[in-house]
Amino acid sequence: MTDKQKNEHEKDIDHVTGVETTGHEWDGLKELNNPLPRWWVWVFIVCIVWSIWYFVIYPAWPVPGGATEGTGGYTQYKELAESQAEITARQEAYLERFEDASFQDILKDPELYAFASAGGAAAFKDNCATCHGTGGAGAKGYPNLNDDDWLWGGTLEDIHQTLEYGVRANNLDTRISQMPAFGKDGLLKREEINAVVDYVLSLSGGKTDGHEAQGAEIFKMQCASCHGADGKGLQEFGAPNLTDKIWLYGGDRQTIFETVYYARAGMMPAWGTRLDENTIKQLTIYLHELGGGE
Ligand code: HEC
Ligand code: HEC
Repeated sequence: MTDKQKNEHEKDIDHVTGVETTGHEWDGLKELNNPLPRWWVWVFIVCIVWSIWYFVIYPAWPVPGGATEGTGGYTQYKELAESQAEITARQEAYLERFEDASFQDILKDPELYAFASAGGAAAFKDNCATCHGTGGAGAKGYPNLNDDDWLWGGTLEDIHQTLEYGVRANNLDTRISQMPAFGKDGLLKREEINAVVDYVLSLSGGKTDGHEAQGAEIFKMQCASCHGADGKGLQEFGAPNLTDKIWLYGGDRQTIFETVYYARAGMMPAWGTRLDENTIKQLTIYLHELGGGE
């Protein structure tokens, strides 16, 4: 072996650090061949071991039509079912007590009350919000359930009855009444309707055309039997209070005219045939609280 060959085989040692280089060099910068830090190597090995374990236990490796199942049998469906079962079990503990409790019992028991109120809020979003709005604020023709103005009564028993059988719904026990179509059916002349509309406007301090005295006479004859002599409404007929500035259909002249001319008849389905008794009870409690029940 010549001296030259010997030199080529000798390790290239960096003279500053005394560490061997890899032989790579850029513009005079040499790469030191330091060993990897021990801790780094261990983390690397642990990661590899962990990933192999994960591949085996969990569904991990994509295969046509899904993924390997994993020996642990884990699926998110299963996890969901488990947590749902847990919730149902927790509810059942209350439901049993709830089923037997009267409204008075529930009002006295903070735990049952909270249970009912939360359940009612959830059932409301599912079944009622489409018509009454998410927070129960209502819309034209759909009563606001947040206020303490009740068409058919705001006691727990009243609300329960309304929910169970609905309003103008298809059953014998439903809440029902029918305001006559005074204009369409020719019961009142246009000018008489204008006068009674004036009177209705005056009841809540609205602007009139000055015919309210004539309107008051008509009201007494034609309207007081349902809306009350004072215009404050009668819950047995679901006839709204006309003095409180809370309007189901609207309190401007045009809308009131239409109401008197064509009449109105809002319909709500009966829930007794669609929801179980516990849910209706929960909704009753929830609404009673929401609307400052009577
Ligand atoms: C299809 C639309 C619709 C749905 C869905 C609906 N409601 Fe109604 N609801 C009405 C209408 C319209 C009225 C007003 C009836 C009337 O004019 O007297 C009403 C009236 C009521 C009243 C009477 C309010 C009062 O002032 O006396 C209550 C209470 C009520 N709804 C609760 C519910 C609950 C609880 C649900 C869900 C389980 C529900 N509603 C779902 C349309 C609906
Ligand atoms: C047979 C009972 C009955 C009679 C009589 C009657 N109403 Fe009504 N009225 C009702 C009912 C019930 C409603 C609510 C309809 C609904 O909920 O859809 C109503 C609703 C109204 C409304 C709508 C209120 C709102 O908040 O939007 C006005 C206004 C009104 N009536 C005025 C009159 C006037 C004026 C007369 C007399 C000319 C009259 N009503 C006669 C039962 C009656």
